[in-house]
Amino acid sequence: MTLLKATSLSHSFDYPLFEDVSLSLNAGESMAIVGVSGSGKSTLMHILSSLLHPLKGNVELFGNDIYSMDDKSLVKLRRNDLGMIYQSHYLFKGFSAYENLEVATLLSGEVIDPTLLKRLGIDQVINQKVTELSGGQQQRVSIARVMSKKPRLIFADEPTGNLDHSTALEVMEIFDDYLRTHQAALVLVTHDEALAKRCTHVYRMQDHSLKEV
Ligand SMILES: Nc1ncnc2c1ncn2[C@@H]1O[C@H](COP(=O)(O)OP(=O)(O)OP(=O)(O)O)[C@@H](O)[C@H]1O
Ligand SMILES: [Mg+2]
Repeated sequence: MTLLKATSLSHSFDYPLFEDVSLSLNAGESMAIVGVSGSGKSTLMHILSSLLHPLKGNVELFGNDIYSMDDKSLVKLRRNDLGMIYQSHYLFKGFSAYENLEVATLLSGEVIDPTLLKRLGIDQVINQKVTELSGGQQQRVSIARVMSKKPRLIFADEPTGNLDHSTALEVMEIFDDYLRTHQAALVLVTHDEALAKRCTHVYRMQDHSLKEV
């Protein structure tokens, strides 16, 4: 089953970023997007995840053309089916790590899985304020928050950028297990070629286009 399908996407800001980008992703699969800094990976991710209208082309999520959907359906789709882990993590600063997870699970009607917190190594710090956590711990809290929602499609932009290699590998294993057990899919932007290679597909953003490697 195809969860994500993008057709002939083009986008530019002050100068053209990419042209004619097409891709598709099935349930249970993952795709990595690699490429030099500034090549447009985060921009593409924003377009694929419903946050930015492309200049040209269209994006289908779960068979719906998202840029012709009404706002209400789009909000519902984001809340229930999409998990987004950004380059800078938007946690609620005045709240504890646990309260940050609760916000997500209350909205989606899911429960927080203690095993996930343990695997991510944040079970001991879960009641601390977000501002008291290290950068890597905050990053793992935002991963836990997204996974706790049980999304069908996860978008992760450098989710392991602040983590040591073995913690990064554990995060990838958590993603793999999740995709398998929930028939979900993952779009991962990373500078780490070793992590990229663990994905079903690897694409490189280069010379204004996206090529499978
Ligand atoms: N909202 C915006 N307005 C104008 N220019 C933008 C905007 N967002 C991104 N850009 C420009 O588009 C280019 C691509 O940015 P993008 O964030 O997609 O790159 P990236 O491949 O994710 O880089 P990195 O690996 O450093 O995260 C950059 O030159 C950036 O300045
Ligand atoms: Mg980026």
